[in-house]
Amino acid sequence: MPKKSNLFYVVFSMSCFIVLGLSSYKEEQNIKAAENLRVSEGFENPLGFYDATPTFSWKLPISERVLSQSAYQIVVASSPDLLPNHADLWDSSKQMTDQSVWVKYQGKPLQSRQNVYWQVKYWNQYEEASKWSKVSHFELGLLSNSDWKAKWIGLNTKKEKVMGSQDNIIHRPQYLRKGFELSNEVASARLYITAKGVFDVSINGQDVSDDVMPPGYTPYQERVETITYDVTDFIESGQNVIGAELAAGWHSGRLGWMKSYWSDTETPKLLCQLELTMTDGSKEMILSDETWKGTTKGPIRFSEIYDGETYDANFEMPDWNTNNFSDKTWENVNAFPIVESIRLEPKRHTTVKSKIELPAKSMIKNDGTLIFDFEQNMVGVPLLKVPMKKGQTLKIRCAEKLSPDGTFYTENYRSAESTNHYTASEDGIIDWMPKFTFHGFQYIELSGFDTSVEPSTDWVTGMVQYSDFDENGTFISSHGKLNQLQSNIVWGLRGNFFDIPTDCPQRDERMGWTADAQVFAPASIFNADVYRFWASWLQSVRESQFENGGIPWVVPDVLFNNKVSAGWGDACTIIPWKIYLRTGDKTILDDNFEMMKAWVDYHESVSKNYISKMGGFADWLQPLPENGDNKGDTSHSLIGTAFFAHSARLTAKTAKALGKIEAYEKYNALYQNVAQAFENHFFENGKVKEVSETQTSYLLGMAFDLISEENKANAKKHLLEKIAEADNHLRTGFLGTPLLYEVLDETGEIDLMYQLLFNETYPSWFYSINQGATTIWERWNSYSKEEGFNPMKMNSLNHYAYGAVGEWMYERIAGIAPLEAGYKTIRIAPEPRHPLTSASASLNTPYGKVSSSWEIKDGVFKLNTTIPPNSTAIVTLPGNADAVEESSQVKPSANSNGKSEFVVQPGNYTFQSQL
Ligand code: BGC
Repeated sequence: MPKKSNLFYVVFSMSCFIVLGLSSYKEEQNIKAAENLRVSEGFENPLGFYDATPTFSWKLPISERVLSQSAYQIVVASSPDLLPNHADLWDSSKQMTDQSVWVKYQGKPLQSRQNVYWQVKYWNQYEEASKWSKVSHFELGLLSNSDWKAKWIGLNTKKEKVMGSQDNIIHRPQYLRKGFELSNEVASARLYITAKGVFDVSINGQDVSDDVMPPGYTPYQERVETITYDVTDFIESGQNVIGAELAAGWHSGRLGWMKSYWSDTETPKLLCQLELTMTDGSKEMILSDETWKGTTKGPIRFSEIYDGETYDANFEMPDWNTNNFSDKTWENVNAFPIVESIRLEPKRHTTVKSKIELPAKSMIKNDGTLIFDFEQNMVGVPLLKVPMKKGQTLKIRCAEKLSPDGTFYTENYRSAESTNHYTASEDGIIDWMPKFTFHGFQYIELSGFDTSVEPSTDWVTGMVQYSDFDENGTFISSHGKLNQLQSNIVWGLRGNFFDIPTDCPQRDERMGWTADAQVFAPASIFNADVYRFWASWLQSVRESQFENGGIPWVVPDVLFNNKVSAGWGDACTIIPWKIYLRTGDKTILDDNFEMMKAWVDYHESVSKNYISKMGGFADWLQPLPENGDNKGDTSHSLIGTAFFAHSARLTAKTAKALGKIEAYEKYNALYQNVAQAFENHFFENGKVKEVSETQTSYLLGMAFDLISEENKANAKKHLLEKIAEADNHLRTGFLGTPLLYEVLDETGEIDLMYQLLFNETYPSWFYSINQGATTIWERWNSYSKEEGFNPMKMNSLNHYAYGAVGEWMYERIAGIAPLEAGYKTIRIAPEPRHPLTSASASLNTPYGKVSSSWEIKDGVFKLNTTIPPNSTAIVTLPGNADAVEESSQVKPSANSNGKSEFVVQPGNYTFQSQL
């Protein structure tokens, strides 16, 4: 976050909002109501909500009369009829404050299943009251294990070796069902459900939801998420049936690349509790228990995340999930009581859904095979509408890229087979997509279809699947390749936010690698509404922290190797802090503070005289390492010490933000001690000594503020020399790359950062684009036109880490950054440079939409910007605003460093300056 500059603050009342507001406010009785009511990390009217101590947020409307809030009142009740005057749960009363986000609920304790209704009103800057907002609502899920009467059920699936699986054996998918009769009419019905594995549930033959692979992926030995569905409309009077398909998923499937980690897990199980409220007020429950029946003889014969799915239509069991079916030949399931040690908690972020349908753009016909090209590397599954003959087996293969000779490149999937099969039981067009697997692909190859039919591209559609979040920002510029980079960043995000943040979506990994997450989190928040996603994953990080404070390499931890890595484990301090800067919500700090402290203490325990001995992956995948190692040339001890200092500092800042002064002093002193030790040990007069001198060693020292004032200029000089030595190219890996723009920006080297970003040659962002990248690659040269595929087996073509630069594109190229946590004060300070002639971004902040859009014509810089209500902005223009006549609605308040700066109120503005 940029520092506040000491400019001369003048608040202009020239915004058209105020002018118009003053002239008309007396005539209107009521000002517009608050909008966008949300609870906790941005939930809108959630069902099965997880949070019994929520926070409330709202946005002020865009209105001539509303610049800011002077007070609010929230009323909360157990029925909408009690609002606004008889709130039985909480009445905040009028609070004189401008706080409109993250207001803590302070009413009566809330219980599982409880329905909660709330409304807010605010007073504007003239202390005029708004109307009451619309009533918002949430319904709590089952908050504790004691709410569950159901049992875990499933068949005793032996691990078998079946077609499609590697040497590794799998649990066959199961079909589970239960018929039940109701003597009464149902008024409302809730299905609480989860699995150790993944499920798809139906009632009376109808799919209850379009969720993909619920409940999602958590440290299952600690916590399994539960989901609530409103199934009132699915229940019929009389006879009913619940049916569920259950597969191994992340729980009991193949995960992690070392065999031992998946060989011994528990068999998949389902847990569900249907709670019915009858029209006469009576209650009934249908529970998963030993009365259920099950079979593994259904059409999904095989399903594995890495390997794909096999469906045989000959095994279809028509109407198996309706009343017109006899389950006499099915087995009785085993039932197991729930245990206290595994917490059952409502899912606290959105499920995965099929979000986008991508049509195939072209098709290559080979002998007996067809290859469909989506012209976009994507993640999800193919939807197949393919003509087949009875008895044929359609083989569906995936690839991220074709080899130059047109064949499938699948080496980078490593042991993941990513292959689906469909066997037809009759002639005709099938309509099928795999259910319990996902793939990373741009190409689909089909064989085994009816060759008498002329093929067409609409046989295959790419179903793009990711956690169900919305776009949160946009970025576009005058430069085609920069726009392609933005698109690649967004596709990297879509591809790697499949319930947890993954390193890559295609090979035999897809794990929550912590450094990848740490470097990409800020860029993700600009592009998508992912606060809930990160808050949820951070809970998994807390649950995965080792007893000694160490943080595992991946979360959930499926590697079970008790190993840590500097820059990886620091995800636990960096992500909460970066999210706090962009949301202003202290809950994320509060929730993670203990974890941060324990991690810093762990850092200390593996250091001597503050110099770290923590090893790890170091500056992973630094290009052109002199030592030829994936871990790069930067000293491991230097990296460990730098992250020790950085995490101590972030923990100190967190303590300060939370008002914990003692902890602040402790961790701040620790940071200073480590910083001093770092400089003494690794630097002399700003120059790296004894260990190898790399771009990343300078970047770490400078970005984390570990170099004393008098040596900073020298350190910068040496950094620039290292960059110049590399012909003005980066030589940074996973840890160093995101610090490049931070340091070069902070030290005024924006021209150089532009140069690095716009470099066309290896290694650079545009280099990959020049080789055809439509996502961010694991290596700058994962593929090149001259040399083909990188020979390293570890070669993902969808690896979001280097997309971290998206943060700088929003903050500096377009120029939207928080000056205060959560954008209460916003900095609009674009940095235009050749070759751009325009750039434009918009971002949904907690206060509303901010935008910054600039263009340069005939040497004149023109900026349009929108500042949302209840915030203020400081706008900094390049060049001289005075030089331009009728430049804007606001006159410059100050000129510093040749730039014009303005303090502005909410509204829309146009500024101009002479470059
Ligand atoms: C993953 C990463 C991860 C790295 C750690 C790789 O296999 O894909 O992105 O951070 O291992 O070394």
